Amino acid sequence: MMPSTTKDEVISYDINVPYKITDDTRTKVKYPEYMPSWDKVWFDPLPPFEFQDPALRVKDTSLPELHKAGLKITNITPKLGSYISGIQLNQLDAAAKGELAWLVSERKVLAFHDQDLIDDGPAAQQAFMNHYGKPNYQPVSGSIKGHPGFHIIQRDGNQAELARFLDQKTTTTLWHQDVSYEIQPPGYVMLGFLQGPDNGGDTVFASTDTAYKRLSPAMQALVDRLQAVHTSSKMIAHTRLAGGLVRKDPVDTVHPLVRVHPVTGEKCLFVNAEFISRIVGLKETEQKMLLDFLMQHIVSGHDYQARVSWAPRSVVIFDNRSTCHTAVVDYVEDGENSQVRHLFRLAAMAEKPIPVSS
Ligand code: SIN
Repeated sequence: MMPSTTKDEVISYDINVPYKITDDTRTKVKYPEYMPSWDKVWFDPLPPFEFQDPALRVKDTSLPELHKAGLKITNITPKLGSYISGIQLNQLDAAAKGELAWLVSERKVLAFHDQDLIDDGPAAQQAFMNHYGKPNYQPVSGSIKGHPGFHIIQRDGNQAELARFLDQKTTTTLWHQDVSYEIQPPGYVMLGFLQGPDNGGDTVFASTDTAYKRLSPAMQALVDRLQAVHTSSKMIAHTRLAGGLVRKDPVDTVHPLVRVHPVTGEKCLFVNAEFISRIVGLKETEQKMLLDFLMQHIVSGHDYQARVSWAPRSVVIFDNRSTCHTAVVDYVEDGENSQVRHLFRLAAMAEKPIPVSS
């Protein structure tokens, strides 16, 4: 039973508080080996590491290796998002994986249905993502025993956390970039779909470079120069308060509010509604006004968003540097899980965000 909290205390509906997996749950999930586990391990801060984007090694951007493998692209929207068919991710060689990175950088979100990789097990899935950067180890959320790079999304035992969140919020929509508080946050991120509701439970992505381009030159000049503090401390405080397991000290990092994408060269707004605690150099009301405006700008820009619907054995690979995203938790009723939605996430840590040069 989760301790109750007062209204002023931090809340989250992430699946950060350990729960017991009941026999009933085990029988209704297709992939019980991917149910979250909270191992008592400790992660030290990640030391700086060299990162070279695999997309930058691609010489021929006509993507010959992917075409040889059978690549077919169907765009979801003009600005971002493509459904990819004709290829199996687990059959790609190193050259094709590099081309895939280039395609992700260009299209921002790639969705692949019916992937054999989903049934290859955690070691193969982690090895695939290691091609794109260092694994991220989640500080609080449920993972898989022996595979700390996995973040498991399965709400069966998370109803109390979710209900408490909805006591105070009007929606579960929470636009964010994954793990933005790290010094070298994830670039490429994989979501693997294990099981889901018959309909609903989509994921929506917004393009943050298009969002940047839509700003006036005067606003661009302002945000180009600003920096924001991204922190995991709220998430960790929430977890401690709710009696959860913490595996890493909070990380606070100052990042540019606009980052330059290392592959496309585009400027991307680097702002989210989950991890930013303040904007350096602005007064409180100024920070609030600017953050509220930028988030409203990103979330209301349906002309630079793409909504991905999940299908059996889907995999999505997205660019965490040029997008913001939110899950659509519309398949639960009154805080009760009516249907199972079970995904894993693997995030590959990338470069330190590149500021706009002065
Ligand atoms: C995430 O927010 O990182 C996962 C997205 C999802 O559950 O669709």
